Parts: sequence; structure tokens; C-alpha cells
Amino acid sequence: MSQTILLMGPLMPAVMDTLESTYTVHRHWEADDGDALIERIAGDCAGVVTDGGRGVSKAVLEKLPNVGVVSVFGVGVDAVDLDYCRERGLPVTNTPDVLSDDVADLAVALALAVSRDMIVADRHARAGRWASQGGLPLTTRMKGKRAGIYGMGSIGRTLARRLAGFEMDIAYCNRSEKRDSPHRFVASLEALAKEVDFLFVTASATPGSIGSVNAAVLDALGPDGWLINVSRGTLVDEPALIEALQQNRIAGAGLDVFADEPNIPEALFALDNVVLQPHVASGTHETRRAMGQLVLDNVEAHFAGRDLPTPVG
Ligand code: 8YV
Repeated sequence: MSQTILLMGPLMPAVMDTLESTYTVHRHWEADDGDALIERIAGDCAGVVTDGGRGVSKAVLEKLPNVGVVSVFGVGVDAVDLDYCRERGLPVTNTPDVLSDDVADLAVALALAVSRDMIVADRHARAGRWASQGGLPLTTRMKGKRAGIYGMGSIGRTLARRLAGFEMDIAYCNRSEKRDSPHRFVASLEALAKEVDFLFVTASATPGSIGSVNAAVLDALGPDGWLINVSRGTLVDEPALIEALQQNRIAGAGLDVFADEPNIPEALFALDNVVLQPHVASGTHETRRAMGQLVLDNVEAHFAGRDLPTPVG
């Protein structure tokens, strides 16, 4: 008899195909009655597979006493109650490192797109306004500016290598100083924001970081400062960010993530000083394939009694 797995939401077809041909998979999001499904498989369910946004609630895990692994498609595990899993001795796995290049690339793309006004310029060009109204105002260069990286994990380090190519002066804020980083550590996020032109958010969402990019940090970044967020929307006080953008108290923002995905605050749609992406930073064929493979490898290792390739914590 194959092992029983609860799949919380859809994953890439290739990953779902492999899961479903190897295990007995129950699709939670398609169930007419999710609670009834959980009750029906409660005794058999040996693993949960989910994505980073959806995670799995403590309430669901409590009803599944025989689950031995939670495998998350994504590096961020803020949608899983890690304290509960730790108490229960339930391992959680994620997909670190394999997505760092693409997330860092998108951070750079957002920084260029917003500081060089690329979306406004694209609209201008498409509407034929170049010929009828002429060119556009000058923009701001990235080269040689001061960059602050909030969160010096794998994504932050990968981003720093790219920003070095722009000859930027790089400083970072992190829970603790990274002795192996060549960049300058600044303990306070507000102090970091005060001294940089571009503030990149790459920290994970934890009780300590949620809401940390607040009005004071945005005002420290100031009217010539750009905010780029490729981490989690919850790290930023979104109403404060909208106000700061509306009042030009910061120069602009490039956002891949939002507090209440997939809902983006409508106030942002009206602003030219913001570039919006629907949480796509890791969304390349190559990276998503690698993430999917890690999900499968972790589940397989668990059932084979081997060490998990990428356990959290
Ligand atoms: C994914 C992410 O888009 O890795 C993460 O934490 O946010 C993204 O890579 C997401 O997990 C897919 O649901």
C-alpha cells in the first residue's frame, strides 16, 4: 500500500504527476468538504505537501496524528506553524537556495524598472505618445548608489553579488552579523534605510520581522529612496507604504509580494512610482523544476528513512 499524502493546493503538473503515481494523494483544495476529507484520511495520512503561500494550519495538522513530514514548495515557511511542528517533532522541509538566483534577478529587475521608469516609458511608447508628445523626464541611475539589503540569507547574498556588478556600496541588516560577509553590517533597519538609496527586502517573515518596514523606516529611506520587496508583503506596513508613495515621501517601490495575496491594494494601481508583480520572483521553468524536485526528494527521503535534504531549522 502506498503512503497517503494530503496535498493542500495545486503544484506544477509534473510534480503532481510524480506524487500521484507514487503515493495515494488527496487533493484538499478540490474537496467539496475539506474537513470531511481530513476526517476520512486522518488515520492514514503520513505526509502533507503544500506551497509557501498556502502552508498548512495547525488546526489541520492537529487532526492528522500520523503525519511525519510537511514538505513546502517554497523557501518561506511563514504559513506553517513551526513552533507547533517543533513541539510535535514534526519535520518541515522547504526549497532553499535553488530559487535564490531568480529571486535576486527579479529584485534587480524591479529596482531598474522603477528607478528608470520603465513601465511608464513602455506605456508612453505603446500609446504613440513619443511621436505626439515627445520624450520623457530623466530618471535615476542605479550604478554607484548605496544599497541596503534587509536579510542576508541565501537570497540576500546572491543579490549582493549582482549589486556589486552595479558598483553599489552595499550594507545589510540581519538578525545577527554575518562574519563571512564582506559587506557592512548595520544593526538597525531604520539606520540602514537612512543611509541607502535602494532598500531591498529579502528577510524571511518571522514574528520579529513582520511589519518592520514601517513608516519610520520609509521616512528614513526618504524622498530619494527606493524600496524593493521580494520577500513577503507582511514585512511592510502596507498602508504606511501607500501613504509614503502617494505623498512622494519615498521615490518609489518595486513590489513582488503583498500582505494579502492575491489581493493587491487598489490604491497602488493609480501610482506611477510603483512597479507591481504578482509574486513571480521564483517563477521560471528552471527554478520551479528544481523546487518541485526538492519537494519530491524530501518526501521520498522521509518515507525511505533517510536524512531529509532540506529540513527547516
Ligand atoms: C513561491 C515563495 O512562489 O519560495 C517562496 O517562499 O514565496 C515563492 O518562491 C511560493 O512558495 C509558491 O507558492
